[in-house]
Amino acid sequence: MRASTILIAEDERTARTSLAGLLEAEGFRVLTAENGTEALSVLLSEEPEAAVLDIRMPGMDGLAVLRRAKEGGSDSALIVMTAHGDSGTAIEAMKLGAFDYVSKPLDFKVLLTQIERAIGQRKLARQLRAAQESAPAPPISNTMVGHSPAMQHVYKLIGQVSTSNATVLVRGESGTGKELVVNAIHHNSARAQGPLIKVNCASIPEALLESELFGHEKGAFTNALYRRIGRFEEANGGTLFLDEIGELAPALQSKLLRALQERVIERLGSNTPIPVDIRLVAATSRDLEAAVNAGSFREDLYYRLNVVAIALPPLRERRQDIPALVQHFINRSEHAVSITSSALTVLCDYHWPGNVRELENVVERALVLARSGVITEDEIQLKTRPEQGDTVWTDFAPLEEGMKANVATLEKALIERALRQTQGNKTRAAEILGVHRRLLYEKIREHGLPE
Ligand SMILES: Nc1ncnc2c1ncn2[C@@H]1O[C@H](COP(=O)(O)OP(=O)(O)OP(=O)(O)O)[C@@H](O)[C@H]1O
Ligand SMILES: [Mg+2]
Repeated sequence: MRASTILIAEDERTARTSLAGLLEAEGFRVLTAENGTEALSVLLSEEPEAAVLDIRMPGMDGLAVLRRAKEGGSDSALIVMTAHGDSGTAIEAMKLGAFDYVSKPLDFKVLLTQIERAIGQRKLARQLRAAQESAPAPPISNTMVGHSPAMQHVYKLIGQVSTSNATVLVRGESGTGKELVVNAIHHNSARAQGPLIKVNCASIPEALLESELFGHEKGAFTNALYRRIGRFEEANGGTLFLDEIGELAPALQSKLLRALQERVIERLGSNTPIPVDIRLVAATSRDLEAAVNAGSFREDLYYRLNVVAIALPPLRERRQDIPALVQHFINRSEHAVSITSSALTVLCDYHWPGNVRELENVVERALVLARSGVITEDEIQLKTRPEQGDTVWTDFAPLEEGMKANVATLEKALIERALRQTQGNKTRAAEILGVHRRLLYEKIREHGLPE
């Protein structure tokens, strides 16, 4: 069996070498670091089974190393050496995820027992994680609810793409279930045993996204203390899900296009092409065609991504799914709760700008409030109930009336709202709406609103 590797991070030379000697005599492979920066880099690149970290080191101290190692995904068992009686630091270290701490002066026997225990536990934790990851995923099909024709079409497409490796673009407003579709594609495909890696292009700062996706070599840029494997490589053999693809910056669009065409990537700071075997699924809630026309999204990339498109209709266009979704969310709660038909009607009539996610939130809130076990209208809190006398702009603007009439209706409603909000102060209302006061007066007259 391979000897376990242990890192000793200690700035005092004598202490460091004598501890290293003692551990080597016990049969361990020992690595040493004389400051925090070096310790962090060794932890992340060498992944030793365990490390003994001095708290007080010049530069980055032991706690900072601990925090950054955990952030960097290290699962080495970390033992911290604190000054005798410094319980504050010990507690802080445990909170940050240290395996244990020892106080100086060291009792080598005690330390040795701790190291052996730490290595044993880390091994156990790894085995548990591997077992969980290889456990079959729960069946996905029954977690997507709704039998409207639009959803049935979506299920059919998911089934069709599952058997291929085609790139898929999932579209739909926020909260329509795009992520559920991506999960279903992956878990129904031949890659189900492989990883499903998700990257949200909108939530990662542009400067970091490139290395997030493609990885980097040690020293590729300042602060690149260690090599980092990117998401493309992590997804090898599985599915890579790029969420909010419409937010991708132009430079990265080109790199992504190349990766898709050639199926190889290069880590930052390296010229070595690395082949990747992935299926790409992208999602967007934006109008990509408009972005292409406006020149902010590459047309060639758009076609590469749009091999198969799965479009999720907004919930207001498939209201027949609402009762089943409501029941689904109620069934998930531990308590037996029912819903009155008038409450259900309220839910079916609402226009759900936040789609299924909003419905889910509203039902969950109602479940908490429904102390008697019944959800009535009183328990249903919708964000934007139409105010009395307000013209409601719904997505059901009658198309037959044409653009001009519909825009006029909206215009009138906006002016009414602004006037109500400012208690009839036209100067303030014009400011809020960002129009000239004279134009506001004209519009008030035009729409026959009370002057
Ligand atoms: N058909 C459905 N059946 C059951 N639950 C659904 C369905 N569609 C959506 N949901 C639930 O609604 C919530 C939002 O879904 P999801 O996160 O997939 O939306 P999204 O389209 O990715 O939204 P965003 O664009 O904001 O990321 C989730 O909690 C999801 O479980
Ligand atoms: Mg999403």
